[in-house]
Amino acid sequence: MQATKEIKEQLNELYERASKHGQYQTLPDKLATALEMQFEVNEEWRGDRTRYPVIKGYLAKNKCNSVLDIGANTGYFSLSIADDIEGSQITACELNKTHARIIELLAKVGGYNEFRVTDRSANMEHIGDFGKFDCALHLNILHHAGHDFDKELVPDREAFMQYGKKYLKMFGSSVDRMIFQMGYNWGGDKTLPLVGRDDQAGKIAFTLDLMDGAGWEIEGVALAKKGDKDLPIAYDVYSLHEIKGEKGTQKWLEERYGADVWSEFYQRPLWLCKAKR
Ligand SMILES: C[S@@+](CC[C@H](N)C(=O)[O-])C[C@H]1O[C@@H](n2cnc3c(N)ncnc32)[C@H](O)[C@@H]1O
Repeated sequence: MQATKEIKEQLNELYERASKHGQYQTLPDKLATALEMQFEVNEEWRGDRTRYPVIKGYLAKNKCNSVLDIGANTGYFSLSIADDIEGSQITACELNKTHARIIELLAKVGGYNEFRVTDRSANMEHIGDFGKFDCALHLNILHHAGHDFDKELVPDREAFMQYGKKYLKMFGSSVDRMIFQMGYNWGGDKTLPLVGRDDQAGKIAFTLDLMDGAGWEIEGVALAKKGDKDLPIAYDVYSLHEIKGEKGTQKWLEERYGADVWSEFYQRPLWLCKAKR
């Protein structure tokens, strides 16, 4: 326990070095209990626990053992997978060195040995360099291209689509599957939309164009809905065929989201993708 106490002191100091996404993610329950600390996030606005069942289900269904988490933040997903999937090999990639160090310390607390952390940027230059993986998480990173990384390659919104196709194509040569989520405001700036906030069908069409041009097949798309007491938001997974239903995608999605799922974050689908070979 002495070791955990020392790690907790280090973690407190690191968490204090607040950055843009400093206390973005919750701690997995097991680590929260061991460390007697937790970060509360408003899960009706955005959440980690709410998205995790989709991630865990897709990894289990496809027997994915080696997982790369791009933009791992403070490691909620990487650490949860390390705990839940026996024999898994995890690489957490996080540009922010303070966050990367936090993940390393948390992995120590969890006793996860097959766990690697890198602070190498997942930019165009390096996206193919992380090694081979059964699956990658690429969640809420790509729309920051041109702001947080690859500034010169994405000078404006118009350059985004072509850049994204090239970037994801390179990524597909080293990972078999990918769980992908993106924001539809460039750089997270709502004055710079890639697709309008309430244009749900536009977001679907935009992402299908992106994935098609990048050589990824869509195996499923997870859409948020109101959850229950335990999780305020839950996801249903659909095939592409199902969401292109007779009612027309826009109307169907509008009805689906309605007043229940109001946050912009939960209007970002989770895409379950397989690299075409
Ligand atoms: C918006 S947060 C998303 C976190 C997490 N993937 C999620 O969906 O909850 C973006 C995270 O990615 C990191 N990041 C941004 N650009 C990156 C890059 N080029 N390589 C690695 N990490 C990056 C940021 O430091 C931040 O922690």
